[in-house]
Amino acid sequence: MPDSFDDWARRVRRLAGERRAVILAHNYQVPWIQDVADFVGDSLSLSRHAAQTDAETIVFCGVHFMAETAKILSPDKTVLLPDLGAGCSLAATITAEDVRAWKAEHPGAAVVAYVNTTAEVKAESDICCTSSNAVEVVRSIPEDREILFLPDMFLGAHVERQTGRKLQVWMGECHVHAGIGAQEMRARAEAEPDAELLIHPECGCSSAAIYLLGEGVLPAERTKVLSTGGMVREAASSPASKFLVATETGILHQLRKANPDKTFEPINEYAVCQYMKTITPAKLLRSLEEGVFEVTVPEEIRVRAAAAVERMIALGPAPIPVP
Ligand code: 13P
Ligand code: SF4
Repeated sequence: MPDSFDDWARRVRRLAGERRAVILAHNYQVPWIQDVADFVGDSLSLSRHAAQTDAETIVFCGVHFMAETAKILSPDKTVLLPDLGAGCSLAATITAEDVRAWKAEHPGAAVVAYVNTTAEVKAESDICCTSSNAVEVVRSIPEDREILFLPDMFLGAHVERQTGRKLQVWMGECHVHAGIGAQEMRARAEAEPDAELLIHPECGCSSAAIYLLGEGVLPAERTKVLSTGGMVREAASSPASKFLVATETGILHQLRKANPDKTFEPINEYAVCQYMKTITPAKLLRSLEEGVFEVTVPEEIRVRAAAAVERMIALGPAPIPVP
């Protein structure tokens, strides 16, 4: 392993060029990896990049379901994940068998799956969503259609409030975001009346934040429930100079780098996803040197999962209706 960032970054960039590889990194990756990547973003923007890239290889610095999503969208490309152990506690809360049993209890319901799911679960779903577009995805489904929303209960509750629709919600949670609690969020917000609150909808405190907004305890103009990409955009455009951030702490690097004159503090400094941090600079280098570890998806599953992901990607300019 090279001993300076510059030396390591030069080797990574040279190898990426030789492999005709694009390096995609999620906002929760360690700073070195964010800084060497071709593109850093949230789940939705990374999916869009994976679908559009003309690189031969995608090196995904994120977790397994994200690399799988890239493979689902770009089956002819080689997709590498520097460590196959980069899982996700939220994705692990539901299996394809669980979805089939749930659908059997609710015949005719539309299944909306957060991208934090395995390819097998996506294959059982009608449409995917991310934290950036979950509200729009649910709004794209006819009002009279029952919806099974999986697997995150806090995101599900957020979507119910935003759309005014009752959903059947799977009771899964991400252990990192569930650990960002309402009490610490409220105490920090009250102690810093000028700071803006940036809250990820997977957080345990997001339901409390919306309740406190309704009660007038938190002012609407400085409390925002956003995806990680939404936080980056909000921080750039907001007049606030201080932000309290409720999500995995990797996002702080992106926020501080893009806004050096503003202050960002985590609501919970221990909100660290060990799965995201499984990807280290040494493993990224090895991945490019040795072409490891390839992520594959059986074609029969990929085709069905792709239909759900592509419906999500197409939402916006030309939505594809849920069948
Ligand atoms: P974003 O889509 O907001 O980046 O969130 C993804 C996520 O929670 C991965 O853990
Ligand atoms: Fe999964 Fe939570 Fe880690 Fe995101 S932060 S990858 S949802 S365990």
